[in-house]
Amino acid sequence: MDLTVDQKRYLDEWLEFLKIPSISADPLHKKDVQAAAHWVVKALQKAGCPETEIISTNGHPIVYGEYILDPKLPTVLVYGHYDVQPPDPLELWDSSPFEPIVKKTSLHPNGAVFARGACDDKGQMFMHIKAFEEMKKNGALECNIKFMIEGEEEVGSDHLEDFVKSNKEKLKCDIILISDTGMIAQDIPSITTGLRGLSYMEVTVIGPNRDLHSGLYGGSVQNPINVLCDMISQLHDKDKKITIPGFYNKVIEISHDERLEMNKAPFNAEEFKNSIGIDHVSGEKGYNTEERRSIRPTLDVNGIWGGYIGEGAKTVIPSKAHAKISMRLVPDQDWNEISELFSDYFKSIAPEGVKVEVITHHGGYAYVTPVNTNGYIAAHRAYQETFGTEPIPKRGGGSIPIVPMFEKELGVKSILMGFGLDSDAIHSPNEHYGLSNFFKGIETIPKFYKHYINLSKQESNI
Ligand code: BES
Ligand code: MN
Ligand code: MN
Repeated sequence: MDLTVDQKRYLDEWLEFLKIPSISADPLHKKDVQAAAHWVVKALQKAGCPETEIISTNGHPIVYGEYILDPKLPTVLVYGHYDVQPPDPLELWDSSPFEPIVKKTSLHPNGAVFARGACDDKGQMFMHIKAFEEMKKNGALECNIKFMIEGEEEVGSDHLEDFVKSNKEKLKCDIILISDTGMIAQDIPSITTGLRGLSYMEVTVIGPNRDLHSGLYGGSVQNPINVLCDMISQLHDKDKKITIPGFYNKVIEISHDERLEMNKAPFNAEEFKNSIGIDHVSGEKGYNTEERRSIRPTLDVNGIWGGYIGEGAKTVIPSKAHAKISMRLVPDQDWNEISELFSDYFKSIAPEGVKVEVITHHGGYAYVTPVNTNGYIAAHRAYQETFGTEPIPKRGGGSIPIVPMFEKELGVKSILMGFGLDSDAIHSPNEHYGLSNFFKGIETIPKFYKHYINLSKQESNI
């Protein structure tokens, strides 16, 4: 791929950004997260954003910027995040997560940038800064724009929530634009029309008051790891339905017609299996793979630990066992309610001889967006122009808890214009983002503004 002078510069800047290990979950990286916030402010200024600020919170800072052309014109608020997930396990990376490199792959013959955050969300967010720079330079920006880029998305956006609640006037806008999701394939653009909610729990099973010799005590006391596994296995039935009483009470069942419509989106089961190295899919009875990973709620163990995990063997019955368990939720499940149902049920199935502690880490609501709004239509037209084919509406399986919060607090819908691919390995070792995806994003975003402004003008003329 021959890059123009500007494209080369965008790439260099993006690589520089990726070198900052802005891991929001790790207190040791607090300074790096701050450095990333400063980097974003500088990038906004360089792109021509006249008003920028760093807003400190009790957690990581929020970067805010705005360019108000005329208060009477529509305002687009761009949201993104500059924080990233921890890169572990490090040994599974082919190159260092914070030393970005460009490599060609079969899916990315033009090259892809490999680094933590390459796609989620530094790469996708940076496209908006560069699109803004181009629009401003070309005099193509005919509306107001506000940027709100946070540093705590990967840890639950707690402080952004407070900020939004107390700054409704400042954040006033007509539409929120976000690139933090994916599309179906390189040549099959899609627009994410929904996100799942989330409830993230941590459980601890506590047995004897110290680790015990497994020969002297084994067989006579509860082993917390054995018990934890047993309890976890009770959370699903044989049809992979979740057994927590009341869990499905508020789930809105999708109509037959709507399911038929959704199932028109292209999906290749063999490719899906091959791409993640499995030979058999599995999940809730009565639903297919795509439904299971978008419109249905799920429960998964994310991590489990306890006892001896060092080199060689150590004969021991651990005193404690732990697991992190997340539930993906769908409309109209209430994550606070679900966390409580989980906690009550998990405690109720504890056998004698152990104590159980349950804590809620964070959560969020699910989100759906209609396809008949100006924002959606503008996004549709923008993708169509760049890709030469109509984008497909698709419910996503991931969560961005701040999106339903924006709707509740600001009364504004978000348009999820993602350019990533499932194969980008976000949150995994070897995360990457294609150069074509990056540059197509920068090409598509200004088209969104063009169509959005035209649609708004038409509306105000009626
Ligand atoms: N960008 C993702 C969410 C996402 C990715 C949605 C791809 C749809 C398609 C976001 O950064 C993320 O990872 N969200 C977390 C939730 C958060 C509360 C930690 C998630 O979905 O696990
Ligand atoms: Mn993200
Ligand atoms: Mn993420």
